[in-house]
Amino acid sequence: MNIVQVVMDNGIVSVSLSRPDGNVLQLSYNGISNVLEPRNHDDDRGYLPISSSLFLFFFYFVLIRGTKFSVIMENTDQVEVSFSTTWNSFGIPMNIDKRYILVRGSSGLYSYAIFERLEGFPAMELSTVRLVFKPHRDLFHFMAISNDRQRYMPSARDRTTGQRLGYDEAVLLTHPTDPHFLHEVDDKYQYSVENKDNYVHGWISFGTNSCVGLWMITPTNEFRNGGPIKQSLTSHVGPVSLNSFVSSHYAGEETTMAFQEGETYKKVFGPVFYYLNSLLNHHDPQTLWADAVQQTSKEVKSWPYDFPQSKDFIPSNQRARVSGQLLIQDPYIQGGRFIHARDAYVGLALPGEAGSWQKESKGYQFWTQADRNGFFTIPNVIPGDYDLYAWVPGFLGDYKYNLSITIIPGRGVIEMGRLIYWPPRNGPTLWEIGIPDRSAAEFYIPDPYPNLMNQLYKGKPQHRFRQYGLWQRYTELYPRNDLVYNVGVNNYTKDWFYAQVTRNLGNDKYTPTTWQITFDLPYVVPGAYTLQIALAAATSSHLSVRVNYPLARRLGRFETGLIGHDNAIARHGIHGLYRRYSIEVPWNLLVRGRNSIYLRQSKGQTPFQGIMYDYVRFEGPPI
Ligand SMILES: *[C@@H]1O[C@H](CO)[C@@H](O)[C@H](O)[C@H]1NC(C)=O
Ligand SMILES: *[C@@H]1O[C@H](CO)[C@@H](O)[C@H](O)[C@H]1NC(C)=O
Repeated sequence: MNIVQVVMDNGIVSVSLSRPDGNVLQLSYNGISNVLEPRNHDDDRGYLPISSSLFLFFFYFVLIRGTKFSVIMENTDQVEVSFSTTWNSFGIPMNIDKRYILVRGSSGLYSYAIFERLEGFPAMELSTVRLVFKPHRDLFHFMAISNDRQRYMPSARDRTTGQRLGYDEAVLLTHPTDPHFLHEVDDKYQYSVENKDNYVHGWISFGTNSCVGLWMITPTNEFRNGGPIKQSLTSHVGPVSLNSFVSSHYAGEETTMAFQEGETYKKVFGPVFYYLNSLLNHHDPQTLWADAVQQTSKEVKSWPYDFPQSKDFIPSNQRARVSGQLLIQDPYIQGGRFIHARDAYVGLALPGEAGSWQKESKGYQFWTQADRNGFFTIPNVIPGDYDLYAWVPGFLGDYKYNLSITIIPGRGVIEMGRLIYWPPRNGPTLWEIGIPDRSAAEFYIPDPYPNLMNQLYKGKPQHRFRQYGLWQRYTELYPRNDLVYNVGVNNYTKDWFYAQVTRNLGNDKYTPTTWQITFDLPYVVPGAYTLQIALAAATSSHLSVRVNYPLARRLGRFETGLIGHDNAIARHGIHGLYRRYSIEVPWNLLVRGRNSIYLRQSKGQTPFQGIMYDYVRFEGPPI
């Protein structure tokens, strides 16, 4: 190999990096000369790719190669090296500095990156920023991404000998090397994780004398895009582990980072920790996983780290803590008394509309979950301008504090006091379907096809939505007539399909569907009724809502227009982006007795098109 290498060694791990590119070539640990795949090309073992576009709708992956190497710090306790590049050197109008840190006594490698745009840089878009490592193929077969999501994985080769299903990522394993995997479906999107849970995942190797774990530990989510429930890829067949900092997965191009000409920018992604652990004479993956989880909590507790040398990494003493209590007031719940915003998600993100954080990808985001009394503390906030946002499981809509918050370096604690959220509400609830929690998980999720399963999720109903092909069950359940939901008779856990998908007509033809909600009104009073609809996901869809007159052209007709590219149906997410509509229903459209609401999703070209509902509520006129 003619590559010039930089080697760092702390007696526990030894790292070799290409110079000046700054790719990880070799990671030696516990007698294994390289835990990364040595047969991969030198820029395909451990690296930082981004996907970028200078023109709208044309994205391509670019590997970030350093053009300048420098040693930032080198003493007996710590080595930090930098591999930087600039717009002029690699053609993307962003200066990038990739850093690696090896600390004495530490069983792993820290890595971070600083992105910067200066005045005079042209406009650009960026949709993906992530770190990747590829463990040794012959060694690492067991993958763990959470307590209840761990398994032996098929090989990359098993995918090439298998049968492609509805799209490239989903493969039916027809000739796996290990017959245990026969007739399983493999799809990397089945291993997605929400940001709020994405702290550690990785791989375990079982050797003859010892087993070794290789983990991607992320001590904070502050630099990830899209807020706490944004889903991203983690580890999957390869073996490969991704650390997704910015992606448009489960959200669509609405989340792309777009820069105007001349717009300046700076953001630090990381540090994250490639952690290694081992066990002698032991083959229990649980012990290594438990140790990785424990190490993760140590990393989280030491955040923000005190050792990164970049002046752009903001240390603890310049960060602030924001705390307060969120209360809810709804005139139709508990007589309008204050309700504690139990388990509310409260966060700071760049200023914008209420709810804008779910599409926000450029700034830092700082989120926490309130306690049962709505008290919250958001630690380690980096100086800057933010809005304070929240949403509360069990309640519709988005909260935003009406003033922006400026965090000044070293200001310490900002006490917000009591904040009151008035969720969307026009009148008393006449009926409701589902739970307002931004997910369709409470609805009917059918059993997977026995010959199209990921066995990992067998017997785990909370993960059933991750199985391949569930959307096809709609056509089997409703071969001719669409779903009709009878309020007061039906139960949404059994009778409301998790997604309003298209109907399969065979021969690769699909058709739109119209769902119907029927309900009885004992009387109709003059005044404005309201239909509240919250969607959990949408893909190339158009929802038309009509009341009692399924073909009404004007009166009582509501249209969303074309919405959504989150692809949550195809990618087994139980939600994508959240959307909410308050639709006024004129009282003279309603009748005493039986009424119907028609929900038509009018786009029907593919099996993956459609919407997921989060919650539907019908309100009477204000009283
Ligand atoms: C923000 O809301 C508070 C509480 O309702 C109110 O007292 C204050 O006037 C509002 N400020 C602005 C600028 O709207
Ligand atoms: C709906 O079905 C679920 C699951 O079987 C059950 O727990 C729940 O009580 C039912 N709800 C009503 C209103 O019957």
